Amino acid sequence: MNNPMAVSQNARQRRLLLQATGTLGGVGLVGTMVPFVASMAPSEAARSRGAPVEVNLDTATLGSLVTIAWRGKPVWILHRTSDMLDRLGRHDRLLADPLSKEAQQPAYARNATRSLRPDFFVAIGLCTHLGCVPTYRPDAGAADLGDDWPGGFFCPCHGSKFDLAGRVFRAVPAPLNLEIPPYEYQGETRLVVGQDRSGSA
Ligand code: FES
Repeated sequence: MNNPMAVSQNARQRRLLLQATGTLGGVGLVGTMVPFVASMAPSEAARSRGAPVEVNLDTATLGSLVTIAWRGKPVWILHRTSDMLDRLGRHDRLLADPLSKEAQQPAYARNATRSLRPDFFVAIGLCTHLGCVPTYRPDAGAADLGDDWPGGFFCPCHGSKFDLAGRVFRAVPAPLNLEIPPYEYQGETRLVVGQDRSGSA
């Protein structure tokens, strides 16, 4: 016979995971993605006021994209593979702002990978055209996106394209790279979205 306390605990954990990964329907959760657990340390009320969100990266699968909610916006966390990182360096000529000169990121993400750590890409998952949620399209050379498609994010609303560092392609409606929120790491596997050591938040 089931232990009622254990059942209740399991149900609570399932609810938290769904809140962390399932409330932003349609955001690019694809392939063999195994959602890693976003531990929603702040209360629901605190989160809605914009409190930082802690994410445990322990079980993050290479190539997987997970979405959490921060300040009512989807925030993507992409665990990039070494192949994805290699591809980033090969298509600057196709990009509108390859060096991230526009102020779309904290200073610590103004680099070749637009991130604190190359292996994890953290970005607000809203197109800089009209704010739709792009889809995750890591499939380089996809037939519908062209031979020179290096993998990235595609916004079906009006056709904007972003690479796997959120850099916008030329000649699309979106004017800017995807926005990078403030974030920091507390140890190897704990990511905190919404705060950083510079005091941004
Ligand atoms: S909202 Fe993304 S292309 Fe228009």
